[in-house]
Amino acid sequence: MEMITSASQMQSTCKQLTRSGKTIGFVPTMGYLHEGHLALMTKARKENDIVVISVFVNPLQFGPHEDLDQYPRDVEQDMELAKQVGVDYFFYPTVDEMYPKALTTKLTAITRVNALCGKKREGHFDGVVIVLMKLFNIVFPDRVYMGLKDAQQVAVVQGLVDDYQLPTRIIPIATVREGDGLAKSSRNVYLTDEERKLAPILYESLKKAERLIHLGERSADQVVACVKDELIKTNAVIDYVDIYAYPTFERIEKLAGQLVLAVAVKFSQARLIDNVIIKVDEV
Ligand code: PAJ
Repeated sequence: MEMITSASQMQSTCKQLTRSGKTIGFVPTMGYLHEGHLALMTKARKENDIVVISVFVNPLQFGPHEDLDQYPRDVEQDMELAKQVGVDYFFYPTVDEMYPKALTTKLTAITRVNALCGKKREGHFDGVVIVLMKLFNIVFPDRVYMGLKDAQQVAVVQGLVDDYQLPTRIIPIATVREGDGLAKSSRNVYLTDEERKLAPILYESLKKAERLIHLGERSADQVVACVKDELIKTNAVIDYVDIYAYPTFERIEKLAGQLVLAVAVKFSQARLIDNVIIKVDEV
């Protein structure tokens, strides 16, 4: 595995690889890698000649009062883990390397963002699409592997690819969980022991609501209320519980078709998100 910190060097390497007919699978990350990230890399390894990952904590996607400075980092460990799953190139640019000067043009996520994290974290998805547009133009990926733990991010980025005819495919990957159901996340390290014990309630509440839907419940309000009743047990602050059509993120009152039921809660030091995607038969 080779580490590259220069954007131009990464770009010329990938251009060369593409010209020689190699397919490139790309996994963009913000580092502090865990098994969720590694699942994306393992899939990329199986489906491509070359696997490139990036580790870059993108300041543009953090709000002024968010955890940019506290975001956990451990590049040595990240390199070790990436090597173990067969990554070929580890792109690790600095902020100055990615943003050497102020941007003179901007991308804005327009649809699918008036919900969930898009609504709660203003400008967040603009930062995501900007950094990914840059990374895609550096890496030239044939396939980009993204986790459904961030289902809204997958939908927004699919929109970017469609809007601008980007020559890449977004491959969504199911959420990887701890044994007790908690979605793996770099931010889980911020949980206190007590909070860690309560955190599996997020997924339990989503599964409980999913069962309710499968038993015939079709009211969005009832489903949301069911999740909230469970989440109260965590004594974390509920940021949102909501249900939308997936992947459009349009509001839906009477449940039908493909849906995403999503939660975000704030523990003392960590904001955690989770979701389930549910297919509802018409009744
Ligand atoms: P990050 O939070 O590091 O996540 C990188 C990728 O790993 C994302 O596609 C995310 O959905 C996926 N992922 C995280 N936890 C997962 C889990 N438990 N199971 C499966 N996949 C998981 O998401 C970002 O970084 C950034 O927004 C980024 C796309 C890199 C742009 O800066």
